Amino acid sequence: MKQLKVLISHEQIAARVAEMAQKITHDSAGESIVFVGVLKGAAIFLADLVRKVELDATFEFIGVQSYGNRAADSPQRLAWDSTGEVRLTKDVDQSLNGKNVILVEDILDTGLTLAFLKRLLLGHKPKSFRVAVLLDKPSRHKLAIEAEYVGFTIPDQFIVGYGLDYAEQYRNLPDICVLENAGLP
Ligand code: IMP
Ligand code: MG
Repeated sequence: MKQLKVLISHEQIAARVAEMAQKITHDSAGESIVFVGVLKGAAIFLADLVRKVELDATFEFIGVQSYGNRAADSPQRLAWDSTGEVRLTKDVDQSLNGKNVILVEDILDTGLTLAFLKRLLLGHKPKSFRVAVLLDKPSRHKLAIEAEYVGFTIPDQFIVGYGLDYAEQYRNLPDICVLENAGLP
């Protein structure tokens, strides 16, 4: 049976997101920023983050879909292993040429999605490009890829809540939870 266990409470998330926003505000003093959120997982994180940033800021959303799930080595993996083949489902609405861009992603897992998006957005020739992720699972990275701003570093567990889903469910949970037995029906 699937079971939810709180890993990071909404109070802890709020405190950390405020710290991240403070760091961004400090690092980008005097600059304006375009935040680019990755649908749908980063929508809630972006909404909280931008409201704590004290800079001129606008935001955009970009949508991606990973093609299927790799025939996995274990039932638990089936649920979330991305194949690395990523498809753009929604592009940004403005050119990011000459802009200070911060890509906002929910979780850095294998890094394949982020690598795809980074390549795509660098093609706009922004003035600067940085990445903010709420969660990072370093033990799962398949590429040498890092985010400039990381909320929480977590072990290899399947996470839902605060924007993250399992089959589109649980995104509205206020806390970040571990979904145990995610691969089971
Ligand atoms: P990556 O391309 O493997 O880094 O995968 C990134 C995407 O996979 C994230 O944007 C999430 O949508 C999804 N993902 C990876 N790990 C989890 C998880 O633990 N829970 C929910 N979604 C996840
Ligand atoms: Mg996602």
